[in-house]
Amino acid sequence: MFKIRFLVLTAILSLTAGLVLAQTETPVPTPPPTPTLPPRPVDLICDQQALLDQQQALQAQLASFEADSAANPGVALDNLFKVGAAYQELALACGYIPPDFADRTVGQDIDRILALLPEVFGDPINGQLLYNDTYGCAACHQGESHVGPATEGTYTRVDEIRLALPEFADYTVTQYLVESIIHPDAFVVPDYTNVMPRFYGDQLSLQELADLVAYLESQDGPSPE
Ligand code: HEC
Repeated sequence: MFKIRFLVLTAILSLTAGLVLAQTETPVPTPPPTPTLPPRPVDLICDQQALLDQQQALQAQLASFEADSAANPGVALDNLFKVGAAYQELALACGYIPPDFADRTVGQDIDRILALLPEVFGDPINGQLLYNDTYGCAACHQGESHVGPATEGTYTRVDEIRLALPEFADYTVTQYLVESIIHPDAFVVPDYTNVMPRFYGDQLSLQELADLVAYLESQDGPSPE
C-alpha cells in the first residue's frame, strides 16, 4: 500500500517538475501592454478602401518574415518594427485616439490637432513655464530681443488684427495660435523674418501645446510699443 502511494506521489512530482521545466524552457511571448481605457468611438476620417489597401500593402511586407528571420533575424526584426510603426501611423491618420493621446507629440496635422485640443484642459501657468524655460519661446518673443512679436497682448492682437485679414476670415484665435506654432511659415507676420523653429510639432505633446495656447490666450490687452 505504502509502496503504491509512494510511486503515485513520485509520478505526480516528476510530472509537475516536467511541466515547470517545459514552461521555463519555452519562453512565453509577453503580450503587448493593453491600453488602460477601452478604445474611444471615432469617426473614420480616411477613406475606408484606401485604409484596406494600405493595410494589405503592410501585410504583404510581412510575407517574407519567415524566410528573413531564418536568413537574417536583424533584417526581419527591422521590418517587423517598421511595419508596426506604419500600422500605428495608419490608425492615427484614420482617426484612432490612443489612450495616451495627451502625452503624444502633436505632429503636423492642424485639423487633427484642433479636433483633439478640446479634449485636454490647457493650464496657463504651466504654459508660461514651458514658454519661458522649457522651449525658450520668450527668448524671441519677450524683452528687448524683438525677434518675434511681443508675448504681451498676443490674444488681443490676434483677435483684432490678424483675424481681420481676409485669409483668416474663418479662423478662431486658437486655430491661428496653433498654426503659428506648428507651421510658422504658413503665415509670416509682416515686418518679421521667418526664423521661428519649425520643429515644435515633433517636440510638443498635445498637453504642452494646450498649455502654451492657454498661456498665450491669457495675454490680452494692448501690445507694447
Ligand atoms: C528663434 C526665435 C523664435 C522662437 C524660439 C519662437 N518664435 Fe514664435 N515667432 C518668431 C517670429 C520671428 C515670428 C514672426 C514671424 C512668423 O510669423 O513666422 C513668430 C511668430 C509667432 C506667433 C504669431 C504671433 C503674432 O503676433 O501673430 C506665435 C503665436 C508664436 N510665434 C509662438 C511661439 C511659441 C509658442 C514658441 C515656443 C514654443 C515660439 N513662438 C518660439 C520667432 C520665434
